[in-house]
Amino acid sequence: SQTWLVVPAAGQGRRMGADKPKQYLPLADQQPVLAHTLARLHRAFPNARLVLCLDVDDHWFSPRWVPFTDWQRVAGGSERMDSVLNALHAMAAQDGDVVLVHDVARPCITQGDLQALHHAAATHPAGALLAMPVADTMKRADKNCLSARTEPRDGLWHALTPQGFRYALLRRALETARQLQTLVTDEASAVEALGESPQLVSGRRDNLKITHPDDLALAAAIMASQAA
Ligand code: C5P
Repeated sequence: SQTWLVVPAAGQGRRMGADKPKQYLPLADQQPVLAHTLARLHRAFPNARLVLCLDVDDHWFSPRWVPFTDWQRVAGGSERMDSVLNALHAMAAQDGDVVLVHDVARPCITQGDLQALHHAAATHPAGALLAMPVADTMKRADKNCLSARTEPRDGLWHALTPQGFRYALLRRALETARQLQTLVTDEASAVEALGESPQLVSGRRDNLKITHPDDLALAAAIMASQAA
């Protein structure tokens, strides 16, 4: 079946405090974050079809950063989930096609993790997501930032991207979440709300999501270490 890549890139990235969205800030080689992320996706899946979600007021995007021959852009929505739903509605996919959703802000994704996640997404009926077991002790804070209690970290994972599902399941999950106004911050949470359990695929710790200003230098260092 066909593989599709949905890359939500319509966020404002306000936590970066920069003059443009974080996906357009330069990383290694002065290429923007978006170009690095798309290059790594293309290397792993050269024949995939790409759907890129961009803000309607995006002044920074350039198609020269898109290495795919088969791609389309769609308008972003107000939340990440709305951006992904716009992509799912715009693309001419078959129910059984595999759709991988990957944050544009995760340029350090490796070929090994991409292949492992794609394999799990194609194999597991409820789909799959890259994830990482929690290493730190987890605290539940009260409103004054006092540590009220410690949450057992057994069985707790960080959810990363990509996350991959069959097209029909992902579309039904996100449409249901929007209809019921369920709070979903990733695709897997919408699938879980249907009573399905996606497979957790243990991913690398260096699959950083660029969020804060310091993360750019960190991402550049990670990419340099991966190339070595
Ligand atoms: O802001 P945050 O890093 O959590 O966003 C995760 C991803 O979702 C980013 O790739 C961002 O560009 C994207 N996004 C989007 N549409 C929105 C909000 C976020 O495509 N409305």
